[in-house]
Amino acid sequence: MIALSLAEIASVVGGQTHDIPDPSVQVTGRVVRDSREVEPGSLFVAFVGERVDGHDFAASVVEAGAAAVLASRPVGVPAIVVDDVQTALGALARHVVERLGATLVALTGSAGKTSTKDLIAQVLQRKAPTVYTPGSLNNEIGLPLTALSATEETRFLVLEMGARGIGHIRYLTDLTPPKVGLVLNVGTAHIGEFGGREQIAQAKGELVEGLPSAEAGGVAILNADDPLVRAMASRTKARVILFGESGEADVRAENVTLMESGQPAFRLHTPSGCSDVTMRLYGEHHVSNALAAAAVAHELGMSADEIATALSEAGSLSRWRMEVTERPDGVTVVNDAYNANPESMRAALRALAAMGKGRRTWAVLGQMAELGDEALAEHDAVGRLAVRLNVGKLVAVGGREASWLQLGAYNEGSWGEESVHVSDTQAAIDLLRSQLRPGDVVLVKASRSVGLERVAEALVEGTEGEVAVR
Ligand SMILES: Nc1ncnc2c1ncn2[C@@H]1O[C@H](COP(=O)(O)OP(=O)(O)O)[C@@H](O)[C@H]1O
Ligand SMILES: [Mg+2]
Repeated sequence: MIALSLAEIASVVGGQTHDIPDPSVQVTGRVVRDSREVEPGSLFVAFVGERVDGHDFAASVVEAGAAAVLASRPVGVPAIVVDDVQTALGALARHVVERLGATLVALTGSAGKTSTKDLIAQVLQRKAPTVYTPGSLNNEIGLPLTALSATEETRFLVLEMGARGIGHIRYLTDLTPPKVGLVLNVGTAHIGEFGGREQIAQAKGELVEGLPSAEAGGVAILNADDPLVRAMASRTKARVILFGESGEADVRAENVTLMESGQPAFRLHTPSGCSDVTMRLYGEHHVSNALAAAAVAHELGMSADEIATALSEAGSLSRWRMEVTERPDGVTVVNDAYNANPESMRAALRALAAMGKGRRTWAVLGQMAELGDEALAEHDAVGRLAVRLNVGKLVAVGGREASWLQLGAYNEGSWGEESVHVSDTQAAIDLLRSQLRPGDVVLVKASRSVGLERVAEALVEGTEGEVAVR
């Protein structure tokens, strides 16, 4: 964090100082909520969780060098005591970003936020020091903690914003008001909780409603290929930049191809020039993510060539998203078990089909959670798509939803053992271990709650050094 004295922090958050002999002492280290991350000069934020109470760690974090604790009660060591720790953390973040010289970029969407955030960060970093959301910490606690990790040197602050309902994004944009706001897509993620696509669009669009006006430099970056996102143009005073494959997009891709490796290539068009991109990431869905990142970078002063080079060299910063491992025996494991929704399932299956040309392909799939009334139809459709794309074997893992996946495949014409339904991850691991052959390609994907990364990791770890599986 930028250095602030305990007195100043107390005043910003409206808190009382307790057990602080010298209020001019400065917080110079990171602001953290996990006691293990405390470093000298840190501010430790004590949350009361379901299982642990951060206040119990107060003495030990001060021992470890923390300057003070942000707490909701006195703890016998230096503390700034407030009524509500989350509100105080938000106020501190807001104060700090106002003092930073950094340009704030925020993004939201139903699928691809983390992948796109990681791309934006890898592109912008080439131009100037960039701080960005680690992993997927996109909520009311992760967001202010990320913002507080910026320093005087930071020029770009890239923040992923998540939402499970109306008002959530507005809360986040109030804490860290972006100058550049990007909306990727409106899909079906969490549709059950939201109530429908229109509601999701309503919630995600809050990101562009809060942007500064065009005159004040606000920029809304919207997906031209997604009608619900495009329509958000009418909800903002900011200048609108469109990205996508649509001909009217300001930043667009032409000649999109999916190489046999499963990696996409395309020609990037920007308002100031064109350049070719060959991605290291797997799956055609990353074209849209790359265009979004390109639009942000172009707005922030990068040329088409600089952007194309950065996109072509960008790797995967977050785990279990189309993570490709080549086993010594020639089996390729694609771990996309971080999460799943219908859009990303389709994208991943298409990547599998491309990577598996001339090889035997396996799709090990599980439930897509939170689909509400659309669950049956969506699982059925994914099962059918696996057959249409000629996936060799479908292994549906888990309960009722998995049986819908398998039934969809069966009804589309898979027969015999081409599609099977197993009850849990261990059964899937056993089946794969006994049936995988050198040269096979295996995609593993489901919603987070299914825990299919266990299958992917077992396939990668368990076989090290093995000569060949039958
Ligand atoms: N543009 C996209 N459209 C559809 N699916 C995508 C897109 N980008 C990524 N995905 C897929 O969505 C899943 C979640 O990706 P992630 O980048 O973590 O998104 P989020 O942060 O929005 O949850 C991954 O399985 C990934 O393969
Ligand atoms: Mg995420």
